[in-house]
Amino acid sequence: MNSSLIRWLNITVLGAILADGSIVQRKSLDFTYRWAYTPLQTTNLSSTLLKYSHMGMLSILPNKSLAAAWQGSEDWWEGGHRQAIYWALSQDGGLSWGQHKIVVPSSHQLPLWGPVLHVEDDTVYLFFAVSHAQCWWHGEGGMHWACGGDVMMQRSLDSGSSWQEPQMVYSFDEEGGIAKMIANKLTISSRGHWLLPFWREMGGQPECNMQPAKHGMPGLLVSPDKGASWRVIDIMIDPQETPTWLIEGALSAGSSKGMYIMLFRTSAGHIYSSESYNDGMHWTPARRTQLPNPNAKVDVVLLPEDVLLVAYNDNAESSRDTLALASSGDGGHTWVQRALLETNPSGSFHYPTLLYDSSQDKIFVIYSVDFLPGKNSNALVDLPALHADKTDENGAT
Ligand SMILES: *[C@@H]1O[C@H](CO)[C@@H](O)[C@H](O)[C@H]1NC(C)=O
Ligand SMILES: *[C@@H]1O[C@H](CO)[C@@H](O)[C@H](O)[C@H]1NC(C)=O
Repeated sequence: MNSSLIRWLNITVLGAILADGSIVQRKSLDFTYRWAYTPLQTTNLSSTLLKYSHMGMLSILPNKSLAAAWQGSEDWWEGGHRQAIYWALSQDGGLSWGQHKIVVPSSHQLPLWGPVLHVEDDTVYLFFAVSHAQCWWHGEGGMHWACGGDVMMQRSLDSGSSWQEPQMVYSFDEEGGIAKMIANKLTISSRGHWLLPFWREMGGQPECNMQPAKHGMPGLLVSPDKGASWRVIDIMIDPQETPTWLIEGALSAGSSKGMYIMLFRTSAGHIYSSESYNDGMHWTPARRTQLPNPNAKVDVVLLPEDVLLVAYNDNAESSRDTLALASSGDGGHTWVQRALLETNPSGSFHYPTLLYDSSQDKIFVIYSVDFLPGKNSNALVDLPALHADKTDENGAT
């Protein structure tokens, strides 16, 4: 209890990605947030301005820079053909950020989704999904591709200065043809296997809807050899529970007792959870937790002394206006809310991803910020008064 309280006071919250691609950081100490803005470099608006940014992911690179990666687009809508994987780097633990740039360009005019970064030894592994060419529909912005498709991986041996050719992890064509999607980081099991959560999505043309029974079903991609080969383990829902999809699975590291937990976004008003006690090889049927869920992504990390920390929207209905952290000292049976990171009825604060940096004993959270009604408009127009101790307004417009 004491130690989690100390860690708690050291939480650093940073890196809300704004719709225009800039990164807002806030540092928290004793629950007092200090805002600092990174001015967006818009010397050439037509080539650098992002109108859409989502699905943030954080990692510390082998050369110690902090990386924030996300899916971004110069179009305002999700799933456009220019949607690519972007990142920005910080050399000072998130206090300031360099200009964002494309790490993986959209592939053959198909959008890219859900970057997942993994750093091991001196190698950076970047996972993402590529839409399937046939899976699109006409929407407000023109052609929209359905999310997910082939899951790919590419490596860098120099902290991301250069990347090897992407290779296939799990293709759309597997399982009779259904899009595969990723959103949260992988975990290494105690026997050294990679465990990467994924799920299946449908959408677009009829040939993309051939496997309706699999839509929203989660699984784990398991690799015993650092991505050279993969197999799939499925996770089922407890038949006693309210039926729901189970997507955007968030996976903890293994506890000292060998317990792993996966938490899922659902349409049933609660986060669902599944556990493994044999190194991720088998999973209990997913059941509801006490934590609410407005059908939105969550993330979980394991802190020292087997404390689990979850970042989630503390809303049971469709709103995502409250973003919170809760911890559990009993393997996810009970949760205690530790902080409200955001609470503002005119905004959406969603898709949190956590990073625990054990060298500093610090937790980082990255998440998307949208203000209504212009969902993807500049997010700095209406700051919550509660957090209004601004230190630098250069980037605010
Ligand atoms: C801005 O970038 C666009 C696209 O890359 C280019 O066509 C245009 O010439 C650039 N404008 C200036 C002023 O550099
Ligand atoms: C780490 O590598 C990146 C290249 O991806 C580079 O931009 C950055 O400056 C490097 N950081 C340090 C601290 O050398």
